Amino acid sequence: MAPHPLRVFVLLSLICLCKSDDRLTPAKPLSAGDKLVSDNGVFALGFFSPTNSTAGSYVGIWYNDIPKHTYVWVANRDKPITNGSPGKLVVTNNSDLVLSDSKGLVLWTTMNNFTTGATGTSAVLLDSGNLVIRLPNGTEIWQSFHYPTDTILPGMQLPLSTDDDLYTRLVAWRGPDDPATSNYSMGGDSSSDLQVVIWNGTRPYWRRAAWDGALVTALYQSSTGFIMTQTTVDIGGKFYLTFTVSDGSPSTRLILHYTGMFQFLAWNSTSSSWNAFIERPNPSCDRYAYCGPFGYCDATETVPKCSCLSGFESDGVNFSRGCQRKEELRCGSGDSFSTLSGMKTPDKFVYIRNRSFDQCEAECRNNCSCTAYAFSNMKNGSTSSDQSRCLIWLGELVDTGKFRDGSGENLYLRLASSTVDRESNVLKIALPVIASILILTCISLVWICKSRGKRRIKETKNKYTGQLSKKSKSNELENETIELPYICFEDVVTATDNFSDYNMLGKGGFGKVYKGRLEGGNEVAVKRLSKSSGQGADEFRNEVVLIAKLQHRNLVRLLGYCTHEDEKLLLYEYLPNKSLDTFLFDATRNGVLDWPTRFKVIKGIARGLLYLHQDSRLTIIHRDLKASNVLLDAEMNPKISDFGMARIFGGNEQQANTIRVVGTYGYMSPEYAMEGSFSVKSDTYSFGVLLLEIVSGLKISSSNLIMDFPSLIAYAWSLWKDGNARELVDSSIVENCPLHGVLRCIQLGLLCVQDDPDARPLMSSTVFMLENETAPLPTPKEPVYFRKRKYEIEDQRDNVEISLNGMTMTMQEGR
Ligand SMILES: *[C@@H]1O[C@H](CO)[C@@H](O)[C@H](O)[C@H]1NC(C)=O
Ligand SMILES: *[C@@H]1O[C@H](CO)[C@@H](O)[C@H](O)[C@H]1NC(C)=O
Ligand SMILES: *[C@@H]1O[C@H](CO)[C@@H](O)[C@H](O)[C@H]1NC(C)=O
Ligand SMILES: *[C@@H]1O[C@H](CO)[C@@H](O)[C@H](O)[C@H]1NC(C)=O
Ligand SMILES: *[C@@H]1O[C@H](CO)[C@@H](O)[C@H](O)[C@H]1NC(C)=O
Ligand SMILES: *[C@@H]1O[C@H](CO)[C@@H](O)[C@H](O)[C@H]1NC(C)=O
Ligand SMILES: *[C@@H]1O[C@H](CO)[C@@H](O)[C@H](O)[C@H]1NC(C)=O
Ligand SMILES: *[C@@H]1O[C@H](CO)[C@@H](O)[C@H](O)[C@H]1NC(C)=O
Ligand SMILES: *[C@@H]1O[C@H](CO)[C@@H](O)[C@H](O)[C@H]1NC(C)=O
Ligand SMILES: *[C@@H]1O[C@H](CO)[C@@H](O)[C@H](O)[C@H]1NC(C)=O
Ligand SMILES: *[C@@H]1O[C@H](CO)[C@@H](O)[C@H](O)[C@H]1NC(C)=O
Repeated sequence: MAPHPLRVFVLLSLICLCKSDDRLTPAKPLSAGDKLVSDNGVFALGFFSPTNSTAGSYVGIWYNDIPKHTYVWVANRDKPITNGSPGKLVVTNNSDLVLSDSKGLVLWTTMNNFTTGATGTSAVLLDSGNLVIRLPNGTEIWQSFHYPTDTILPGMQLPLSTDDDLYTRLVAWRGPDDPATSNYSMGGDSSSDLQVVIWNGTRPYWRRAAWDGALVTALYQSSTGFIMTQTTVDIGGKFYLTFTVSDGSPSTRLILHYTGMFQFLAWNSTSSSWNAFIERPNPSCDRYAYCGPFGYCDATETVPKCSCLSGFESDGVNFSRGCQRKEELRCGSGDSFSTLSGMKTPDKFVYIRNRSFDQCEAECRNNCSCTAYAFSNMKNGSTSSDQSRCLIWLGELVDTGKFRDGSGENLYLRLASSTVDRESNVLKIALPVIASILILTCISLVWICKSRGKRRIKETKNKYTGQLSKKSKSNELENETIELPYICFEDVVTATDNFSDYNMLGKGGFGKVYKGRLEGGNEVAVKRLSKSSGQGADEFRNEVVLIAKLQHRNLVRLLGYCTHEDEKLLLYEYLPNKSLDTFLFDATRNGVLDWPTRFKVIKGIARGLLYLHQDSRLTIIHRDLKASNVLLDAEMNPKISDFGMARIFGGNEQQANTIRVVGTYGYMSPEYAMEGSFSVKSDTYSFGVLLLEIVSGLKISSSNLIMDFPSLIAYAWSLWKDGNARELVDSSIVENCPLHGVLRCIQLGLLCVQDDPDARPLMSSTVFMLENETAPLPTPKEPVYFRKRKYEIEDQRDNVEISLNGMTMTMQEGR
C-alpha cells in the first residue's frame, strides 16, 4: 500500500528536524540533544555540560569539526540549567531568543522585543560562528558577535570605544570547566578610545600601547604559510580591534584565558591541540606598571628586564618603586626633550585633538607639569578628518616599554637640559670611536679585496664543515654551526654527468645551475659558483649560513653544499617550472599565468619577503628581488631564491649604507641606487616593480620603451592617475580577471615604488592589503625619480660598473 502523502511529509519533516540544520524558527525550537550546524559544518550550537562541571548545562557555540570541545560563545554562562531539567531554546514571535528550563524559568534572553507583522523570523548560525536573529526581510537585529564571552573569532570586532551602545568586554571563564564570569576582563579603556586593557577586577593587569594608526598592529606568520594579522579598524570614527587569517588557515581564535592571559590560538591537527602563538603578558616584566614609575620593560634584552628611562636612576635592584630623576626639571628654557625610539607609550596620557607635531610639542613644553609627549599621524588607519594623535603626560610615566622588533614609536621625554647634554656627551665620545672603527673596517675591506685579487682564495673543505661563519661580517651568525649535509664533490660530478651542458638549467653572472639526481635521492638543482666571479668566499658563506636557517614555503630550500678546491657548490630543491620570468615575459607561455595564478604568485612572494624581514630574530634584506629570482614549483607556488646579496640586520638596525651597490637596475630603489642606502623598504620597492611586471607582463628593463614612457613605473603611474589602469593589465588575462582585485594590485605596486622609503608600506601592511580585499589602500604619490631620469644606460651588458658620485655600482641587467 502506498504511504499517504501527508505521512511522507511528516516523516520528512521529522528527518529534517533530527538532521542538523543551521536555523531556528518560532515553529522549531532547540531542545537538549539537538544542535544547529553552520552551513560549512565548522560551528555547532547546542546544549553542553563542561566535562568536569556539576553546575548544570549551558547553551553555547563550539567547533563542530574539532574533537576537543572548544566553546567560543556561551549564552547563559552565569545561569546554568540545573541538572535533570531539559532546557529549551526558542525564537519568539517578538524576534527574541529565549532559553528556559522545563519549569518555564527564563535563564537567558535577548532583549529585542521587536514584533513584525510577517512571520518568518529565524535565528541562524553563520559560517563565521556568529549566531544572528534575522527578520523575514533579511535584516539582522541581533548577533552573538556583539555579545562576546571570552573569545574573538576572525572577522569579529571588539569595540575600543567606551561611549558606544555596543561597548563590551571579553570576560574570562572562572576556570577550565566553569564558564561563569570571572574577575578578568578585556576591552577598550575609557580614558581614551585608543588602547586595550586587561583588568583583574578593577585593576589593570596588562595594557597594549595606545594605537598609533598603524594598519597592522600585530602579525604572525607560521612556516606553513598561515598568516594572522591583528588590526585596528576605524568604522565611522569608532575604533575596533579585529583580526584576520589567510585562506586555508587552521581554526584560529583569540581568547582571554581563565588565568587572565590574552592568547592567540591555532588548532594543530597533527597534535590535536590548540597551540598558543601569542601570549600576553609576557613573563618577566610585561605586566602592568611592573617596572614602576619612570621605569620601563626592556624587551630588546634576551630576557626582558626593567630599566630606567634615560635621565633617571633607580635606588637599587628592586624596581617596584620605579626610578627617580637624576636632575630636577627647571621648567621653561632649562628643559629639553630627549627622543626615545621604539617605545611602548606609557599609560595615563591626555589625548589632545587636532594638533600638528609642533603644536603637540608646544603643548607639552608650555605646561610645566608635562613630562613627555608622543605624536602620530593616523593617516594609514583612521578615516576621521582629524588624523592627528597628540598624547601628553602630566606627572609620572607608568607601564612604559621598549619593543624588540623595531615596532613602537618615539616618546619625547622632558629632561633638564644639562642631563640631556650629559647623555649626548656620551654619544660625542662614542661617535669618533664608531667612526674610527668604520674607517678601519673600510680600510681592511679594501685590503682584503686587493689581496684576494692577487692570491687565490685558499678555502679548504675543513673550513666549511663545522663553524662556517667565522669570518662572517654579521656577528649574529657567529659561532653558528650549519646542520646541512656536506655533499661530496664526486657525487655532484656523477649526478650532473660532469656538469654536462645537457643538464644545465641556466647561467648568469654568479655561475651556472645544473640539474642532477643524487644517488637514491631527489632531484636537485646544483648552483656552481663561477670561480672568477665576485662571488667569493664571503658571499658563499653568507648564502649557506643564511639559507640553512630559513624555512618558509615561499623560499627555495637549500639541501646541501659542497666545496672542492676552488669550487663552491650549493644544492637546492629542484623546481620543475624554472623562474617566473620564463613564463611572464614569453608570449607563448604566459597563458599559463592566469589571474588566480598570478595573484597566488604575488601573495607568495610577499609572504616570503615578509618572513625575511620579520623573522623572529633577524631582519634579512634580500637586495636582489626580481622575476628571475622567483622560482616556481610544480603547482606554480613561488619560491624566492638567490640570497648571495642578502644582508642581515640585527637588533635595532634600521638602515645601512654600502659602498658597493649591487642589485639589478630597474628593481633598485632610488635611495639605494643613488646613495647606497638600503633597508627593508628597498625590498618593498623591488616587490612593487615585480608586482607591476606580473600584472602587466611587461619587463621593467624592456628596451623597447612602453608608449614613449621612460619606464614601466612612469607608464603605470600615468595610466593609474588618469583612471586608465585597466590598460596596464596583460592582454592575456584582462578578459577573465576580477578587475577590482587587479586594480588594487596596481595601486599597491605604485605604493611600493614611491620615492620616499617612509611612504612605502612595510611588508606586513602589504601582505595584509593583499589578503584582505576590503582593507583600505592609501593613495600613492607620484614616483618622480624614475620619471625624470630617462634611461641613461639603455644597452647595459651584464655587470657593468659605472662610477657615480665616486661610488662604484655594479649592475646586472634585469633578466
Ligand atoms: C577532569 O578532572 C580530572 C580529575 O580532576 C582531570 O584529570 C581531567 O583532566 C579533567 N578534565 C578536563 C577536561 O579538564
Ligand atoms: C507566533 O505566532 C503564530 C501566529 O502568528 C502563533 O501561531 C504561534 O503560536 C506564536 N508562537 C509563539 C511562540 O508565541
Ligand atoms: C515588549 O514591548 C511591548 C510594547 O511594545 C510591551 O508591552 C512589553 O512589555 C514588552 N515586553 C518586554 C519583555 O519587554
Ligand atoms: C525590515 O523590516 C523591519 C521591520 O519590519 C524594518 O524596520 C526594516 O527597515 C526592514 N529592512 C529592510 C532592509 O527592508
Ligand atoms: C573577584 O573580585 C571579588 C570582588 O572584588 C573578590 O571578592 C573575589 O575574591 C575575586 N575573585 C577572585 C577569584 O579573585
Ligand atoms: C588578581 O587579583 C587577585 C586579588 O584580587 C589576586 O589574588 C590575583 O593574584 C591577581 N591575579 C593576577 C594574575 O595577578
Ligand atoms: C603608516 O605610514 C607611515 C608614513 O606615513 C609609515 O612610516 C608607516 O610604516 C605606516 N604604517 C603602516 C603599518 O603601514
Ligand atoms: C603541530 O604539532 C606537531 C606535534 O606536536 C608539531 O611538530 C608541529 O610543529 C605543530 N605544527 C605547528 C604549525 O605548530
Ligand atoms: C620589592 O619591594 C617590595 C616592597 O617595596 C617587595 O614587596 C618586593 O618583594 C620586592 N621585590 C624584590 C624582587 O625584592
Ligand atoms: C583643527 O584646527 C584648525 C585650526 O588649527 C581648525 O581650522 C579646524 O577646524 C580644526 N579641525 C577640527 C576637526 O577640529
Ligand atoms: C597643564 O595641562 C593640564 C591638562 O591640560 C591642565 O589641567 C593644567 O592646568 C596645565 N597647567 C598649566 C600650568 O598650564
